[in-house]
Amino acid sequence: MSRFEVRKAVIPAAGLGTRFLPATKASPKEMLPLVDKPLIQYAVEEAVASGIEDIIIITGRGKRAIEDHFDRSLELEENLKGSGKAQLLSQMRHISTLANFCYVRQSEALGLGHAVLCAQRLIGDEPFAVILGDEVIDAPMPGLAQLIHAYKKRHGAILGVQEVPHQEVNRYGIVTPRRVSAGLHRVEGLIEKPSPSEAPSNLAVIGRYVLPPEIFSILRKTQPGKNGEIQLTDALRELAKKSPMFALEIQGQRYDAGDKLGFLIATVEFALKNPSLGPDFEEYLQNRMRSSGGRSTIRSRKA
Ligand code: UTP
Repeated sequence: MSRFEVRKAVIPAAGLGTRFLPATKASPKEMLPLVDKPLIQYAVEEAVASGIEDIIIITGRGKRAIEDHFDRSLELEENLKGSGKAQLLSQMRHISTLANFCYVRQSEALGLGHAVLCAQRLIGDEPFAVILGDEVIDAPMPGLAQLIHAYKKRHGAILGVQEVPHQEVNRYGIVTPRRVSAGLHRVEGLIEKPSPSEAPSNLAVIGRYVLPPEIFSILRKTQPGKNGEIQLTDALRELAKKSPMFALEIQGQRYDAGDKLGFLIATVEFALKNPSLGPDFEEYLQNRMRSSGGRSTIRSRKA
């Protein structure tokens, strides 16, 4: 195996999901469904389609449903078998075979950087991917696969980025870029949730990373930063000082499904694309717009 092979992915899912309260008081945000699949399954499927074999999910209190989702459900399988629902049965069985799943508990939500650090023992000394499940990317080539492809050529940490509207930079980690080639930049600096006036660009880190194992020793020394959390961005800034780091503009439509409006937009778009639901749903939406006499408009939000 080449030492630049990326076989493992970390999916941090131990956050409190405060933007979705009260829905997330006792249920994981990661289990909110886009049409009929929980958010975290989209992340797992993207990882698997990008060549990942081992998936390490960082969980916390109240997140049991995630483990149950990726396990077999023998009672359900018996029921589906008994009622002759063969297709649904094979779909349910398939979920538990998607990858090798491991779970690590983050006993306190101390921040994304701390969540990633929790995976150190399972990652060991090899490069790995990080996927944030509340950023859903709809693309012909999976978002993570685009990063892994770039990593194999560049051998430095790669952050997935996209341009965001200037007034929204305060919701993201923002990079200071130096252009290398079309869509690829050397990262010269990084800042977490800057105000528009202090932002070095509008290239935002969008929840996809390929990182070398050296990030762990940096994370161990990283002090709590913005919001009192151990920020992955702060550790990445240190890493960028020591070794080359790149930002790749990911091609595809991104939805911020960790935010209520973004989640609703993603739901509508995935429902419209769904072969069995799309035509009826579109008809409903058109009637709905007509009946409101054109007073409502659907605003399209460029991600
Ligand atoms: P967010 O910043 O979106 O936080 O975390 P959150 O808790 O999920 O949601 P809000 O902002 O309170 O509504 C980004 C990712 O990092 C994970 C989250 O689960 C999410 O996937 N995370 C965050 C952890 O795993 N542990 C933490 O301590 C913090």
